[in-house]
Amino acid sequence: MLGNFSYCNPTKLYFGDEALKYLNDELPKYGANVVLIYGGGSIKKNGIYDEVIEILEKNGKNVAEISGVMPNPTVDKLYEGVEIARKHNADMLLAVGGGSVCDYAKAVSVSVHCGEDPWEKYYVRFEEPECETLPVGCVLTMVGIGSEMNAGAVITNPHTHQKIGHVFADEKIMPRFAILNPKYTLTLPHYQMVSGIYDIFNHICEQYFSGEDDNTSDYISEGLMRSVLHSSRIANKDPQDYEARSNLMWAATWALNTLVSRGKSTDWMVHMLGQSVGAYTNATHGMTLAAVSLPYYRHILPYGVQKFKRFAVNVWDVDADGKTDEQVAKEGLAAMESWMKELGLVMNISELGADEGMIEGIADGTLIMPGGYKVLEHDEIVEILKESLK
Ligand code: NZQ
Ligand code: ZN
Repeated sequence: MLGNFSYCNPTKLYFGDEALKYLNDELPKYGANVVLIYGGGSIKKNGIYDEVIEILEKNGKNVAEISGVMPNPTVDKLYEGVEIARKHNADMLLAVGGGSVCDYAKAVSVSVHCGEDPWEKYYVRFEEPECETLPVGCVLTMVGIGSEMNAGAVITNPHTHQKIGHVFADEKIMPRFAILNPKYTLTLPHYQMVSGIYDIFNHICEQYFSGEDDNTSDYISEGLMRSVLHSSRIANKDPQDYEARSNLMWAATWALNTLVSRGKSTDWMVHMLGQSVGAYTNATHGMTLAAVSLPYYRHILPYGVQKFKRFAVNVWDVDADGKTDEQVAKEGLAAMESWMKELGLVMNISELGADEGMIEGIADGTLIMPGGYKVLEHDEIVEILKESLK
């Protein structure tokens, strides 16, 4: 492990089917004015809304609501929420929902007391907040993105076709607490469940496929990936299997709570490609990743053969005997492809609504990250996206 780094993660987690009761321990730490943030209504259908409201009332909170936070939350919705939080003189933000709701709460948190346009400041200029920020708590209902224990907040600007993630530097932007009840995820549609599963797996890949030193983070990542594969196969057959869903929930949190990125330069190009596809199609996040992954990994494989070989052997149990390194590496990706198809993931961007005419725009909107095995040129991005259409 050759890097220099610091590590601090202040988010307190409450895990298990009784986790919500600990909201009673957390709420007294904050002022009376709470803004409850949620999505399009799933929490009203499955009863989580009523449970949360009851606890808020019991704790004497004065509650305002921001509802209708859409998947891939938009900048216009952000402006609307900032106004609601300002009017309510909010002391804290309570996000109840999936990653979009949790990300959105963080974006509101850094914007309420900010005198500038938050899109320009945080998503165009990538600046850090200088103003006071609001504490965020999270009750998670969808598993995948890891927002419950990190400082990331992704916002989409449909006017400019940009979907941008800002990972804030200050750990106080991370949720102060997160309530993880695997039961809450049992009502997710299969499409969202498998999309989230691929998101978890790819978060680990994005950090794993970088660097050449012997790094503890890679061993942890391999363990996490094996756990995700195991549980995903059980959950795919029986989505009501609590044990599998609970393992997926826990793996998702550890996949992107900054632990396995320690000492790594990290890649993140699948996410940059996927997010740009998302900006054009508004497709489900995990599916955009699935649709571009294999063309991307096959493209960079020659630059990172040893790591792809290790991935094949340690994650996919490929037998390396009598084969070249490249053969083993390719077999690993073939095994990944079979698993992705078994889950029913979307394997090309055409199915998500992208077409040939969008390719240049999607390529222009793809941020190029320098940490992986190959720093992509614009032409390579176009080539990968064209391959992803098939
Ligand atoms: O809006 P409601 O009605 O709640 O429905 C949601 C939504 O339609 C539904 N859902 C959530 N929990 C449910 C449920 N339906 C039934 N039962 C439940 N228990 O699921 C749909 C998708 O929810 P969403 O929050 O959009 O999904 P996800 O958690 O995948 O979040 C996606 C967003 O996270 C960003 C993505 O780009 C995207 O904007 N990301 C954030 C990251 C971070 N903070 O670190 C990193 C990720 O790579 C990702 O980019
Ligand atoms: Zn992701």
